[in-house]
Amino acid sequence: MLHVSLRPNSPWGCGRGPKSHVESLGPNPQGAATIRPKLTIAASRADSVGDARGLPTTTRHVPSLGMELAGKTCVVIPTLNERNNLEALVRGIDRAFAGLPYIVVIVDDGSLDGTAEVARSLRTCGYPIELVERTSKQGIGSAVRAGLVRGLLHEDVDRLVTMDADLSHDPSEISRLLTGAAYADLTQGSRYVTGGVIEGWARTRRWVSMVANALVRMLFRTEMLDHTSFFRCYSRPAAVAAIRAEKYTGYEWSFGSLLAVLSEGLQLAEVPITFRERRCGTSKLRTRAMGRWLWSILRTWAELRLGRDRPMRAIRYVAVGSTGILMSQGMLFLLHGVLGLWPLAAVTGAIEVSILWNFELNDRWTFKDRRAGSNRRTRLAKYHAVCAGSVALNALMFSVLSLELGINYLVANFVGILAGFAVNLRGSMSWAWLGR
Ligand code: GDD
Ligand code: MN
Repeated sequence: MLHVSLRPNSPWGCGRGPKSHVESLGPNPQGAATIRPKLTIAASRADSVGDARGLPTTTRHVPSLGMELAGKTCVVIPTLNERNNLEALVRGIDRAFAGLPYIVVIVDDGSLDGTAEVARSLRTCGYPIELVERTSKQGIGSAVRAGLVRGLLHEDVDRLVTMDADLSHDPSEISRLLTGAAYADLTQGSRYVTGGVIEGWARTRRWVSMVANALVRMLFRTEMLDHTSFFRCYSRPAAVAAIRAEKYTGYEWSFGSLLAVLSEGLQLAEVPITFRERRCGTSKLRTRAMGRWLWSILRTWAELRLGRDRPMRAIRYVAVGSTGILMSQGMLFLLHGVLGLWPLAAVTGAIEVSILWNFELNDRWTFKDRRAGSNRRTRLAKYHAVCAGSVALNALMFSVLSLELGINYLVANFVGILAGFAVNLRGSMSWAWLGR
C-alpha cells in the first residue's frame, strides 16, 4: 500500500482536458516556450510518509489498486536485442496485472537476436501483445513514442506505462506508478525520491545520472528529482502531449516529453522505484548517446530561453565570452611568455583579468538593461561565483568523462566547456544580472 503526498494547494485533476483522442492531435498551440512547471507530487512509502524534499504535505490514502483502475492499461516496451529478457518481463507484467485488463505494445527496432520472434511466440501463448516492428534502430525515444501512438489508438486504454525491456524496471512496481496515476497525469518512477533505489551501478554511472538530473532540474526548474528514467505512467492527455516531442528520438526523450507534458499544464508525480542494472544483454546508452543528450538539453534550453529573452542577448554573451578567451590567452602570453611569471600564477592572473574583462563588457553591453536594482560590486561578486561554478563543473565533467570513463580528453573538455557555459549563462541571466 502506498501513500501519495502532495502539496496542500495542488490543483487536483488540472489539465485533464478534452484531448483524449488521437484524432484531435494537432500542433501544440501554445508552443514549447510556454513551459510553466507545475507542482511535483512526491510519493513515499507508507512507512515514510511525507514529501521527499521536506515540503509540507497533506496525505491521502489511496485505495487498493483494483479499486482505482478503470479501463485498460497499455504497457509500452522498446526493444533492441532483448531476446533473453522478454519472456521474464512479459510474465512479470502479466502477474502484476493479476487479471486486470492490459495490453503490451513492444516496439522492436530490427533486433538481430530474434527478439521479435520471442514476442510473437509469447503472443501465441496468449499474452496480449502487439508488436510494432521497425526495420532499423531509430532510438529509444522514437520507439517509446511509436508505442504510445499505437496504445492511444485503443479507445479503451486509459493510461500508458512505459518501461525498459531489460528487467531494470520491476514489473511488480507498475502498481506504484498506477497509484501515482490516480493523482497525476505523468507519474515518474523515481530513483531519487525517498524509497528509490539503484542496484548494480558503478559510482561513475551514478555520478553521470546525478549530474544529468541536476542539469535538467536546474535548466528547466522541473522540481523533479529523476527525469532520466523511462519507467513512467502517462494519462491519455499526457501521452497525447508527450508524442508532440517527436524530435527527441533518443534518450533525450525523457526530458523532451516531460517538457511537452509540462507545457500543457499537466500534473506530475514521482514515486519511488528500484532500478536494477540488467543481467542479460548490453546497454545501448553509449557515450555518443550521452553527448547527444547533452547537446539536446542545451539546445532545448537555448530555444526556450531565446524565445523569452531578446535573442541578441545570448549572441552578445557568446561574443563577449570569445573575446574573454582571447584576453585570457593574451594575458597568459604576456605574464608567462614575456614577463616569465610562474605558470600557475600567470594562468590565475590571466583568468582573473578575463573575468574582469567579461564582466565589464557584459555589464555595459549584454546586460545594460538589467543593472537597475543592484549595485555593481554585488554583480561583480556574483559573476565571480558564477565563473567559479562553471569552472568547477567543467573540471568535474572533464574528470568524470576523461579520467573515469576514458573518453578522449579533448572531447571530455569540450563537453565540460559546454556544460560550464550553460551554467555560466544561466547564472548570469538569472542571478548575477537578475533583470525581470
Ligand atoms: N526499439 C528500440 N530502439 N529500443 C531501444 C533503443 C532503440 O534505438 N535503444 C534502447 N532501446 C531499449 C532497450 O532495448 C531497453 O529495453 C531500453 O530501451 C533501455 O535501454 P538500455 O540500453 O537498457 O538503457 P540503460 O539501462 O543503459 O539506461 C537506463 O538508464 C538511462 C538513464 O537513467 C535506462 O533506465 C534508461 O531508461 C535511462 O534513460
Ligand atoms: Mn538498461
